[in-house]
Amino acid sequence: MSKNVIITGGAGFIGSHLANLLDTKKFNVSVYDDLSNGSGKKNLNSNIKFIKGSILNYKKMKSIFKNIDTVYNLAVLPLAMSFDKPDSVVRVNDYGSYLVSKICTEFNIKLIHVSSSEAYGTARYSKMNEGHPLLPTTIYAASKASSESYVRAFEKTNGLKAVILRPFNSYGEFMREDGYGAAIPLFLNRLLKNKTPIIFGTGKQTRDLTHVSDTVSGIYHASILKNAVGGTFNIAQGKEISINELAKIVIEEYSNLTDKKIKINLSYKKERSGDVRRHLGDISLAKKILNYKPKISLRHGINQYISWKLNNT
Ligand SMILES: NC(=O)c1ccc[n+]([C@@H]2O[C@H](COP(=O)([O-])OP(=O)(O)OC[C@H]3O[C@@H](n4cnc5c(N)ncnc54)[C@H](O)[C@@H]3O)[C@@H](O)[C@H]2O)c1
Repeated sequence: MSKNVIITGGAGFIGSHLANLLDTKKFNVSVYDDLSNGSGKKNLNSNIKFIKGSILNYKKMKSIFKNIDTVYNLAVLPLAMSFDKPDSVVRVNDYGSYLVSKICTEFNIKLIHVSSSEAYGTARYSKMNEGHPLLPTTIYAASKASSESYVRAFEKTNGLKAVILRPFNSYGEFMREDGYGAAIPLFLNRLLKNKTPIIFGTGKQTRDLTHVSDTVSGIYHASILKNAVGGTFNIAQGKEISINELAKIVIEEYSNLTDKKIKINLSYKKERSGDVRRHLGDISLAKKILNYKPKISLRHGINQYISWKLNNT
């Protein structure tokens, strides 16, 4: 089993959960992150080694990635940033992933590349399996789709050992809360200010939301199972919810936890361009090959997240 591992983007939301999980599994975990965004290294277990650096710095990676068994590539610039800083997003998500794939090939390191369900675009059919076409609707999604191509190209031409994972929207503790954050923390931050959650578009667009502990469990299993190599796997809950319904659950759970009687009231703004309309992942392949089984229900996970947030505000 691989023991010396590096997680790029390991100070971010999913990366920090993954780092802590691998640490509890007794891996020697190093996190490689430029701290350009994300939730920061404060969420990492104290014995995890932190190295500040960028996946665009090939020379630095070459000096650090020696003697590593597995690289988990999670470094990313976020979807919302691809509207105002598309060049930076492409540079990191696309070219950066190319450099990580290249180093893993040169050093014969196994690569666990974390892509995204965003690469699919809006569902052409549902549930979306791994054979669903990649039809990105944003620069972010395009950068994730092309990052996968480099991984597969290195695999075909140079024998890289790799697994590609396509998580659907993940949520939970340590989610970023700034303007680039996802729906749940943004809804909650409005409620904390006694304001109504803001929905972009009609709110009828759907997502398949996965608790981050399930997401990292899927990534972990993909990295330890030999027959996962060469595969691409959806990591999702396998359930669909509209953004309107999601906002209602956040309001209800916030009301329950704070004993406030908040009326379900939502504000609507213009739809964001490129927003996918429907996402629902088929997880049968991950179930079969990775023994993946999501455990946390959406309501329970949201309740847990809000409790954590209330205790940490
Ligand atoms: N959060 C989700 O819902 C979700 C869903 C699907 C896929 N993903 C994928 O999961 C991975 C992690 O996403 P996340 O939500 O944890 O993101 P995040 O923004 O919380 O974390 C990303 C981390 O990457 C770091 N980073 C950015 N540029 C870097 C660079 N040049 N070099 C090194 N580090 C850099 C950031 O500082 C940050 O700590 C990404 O590949 C993302 O595409 C996330």
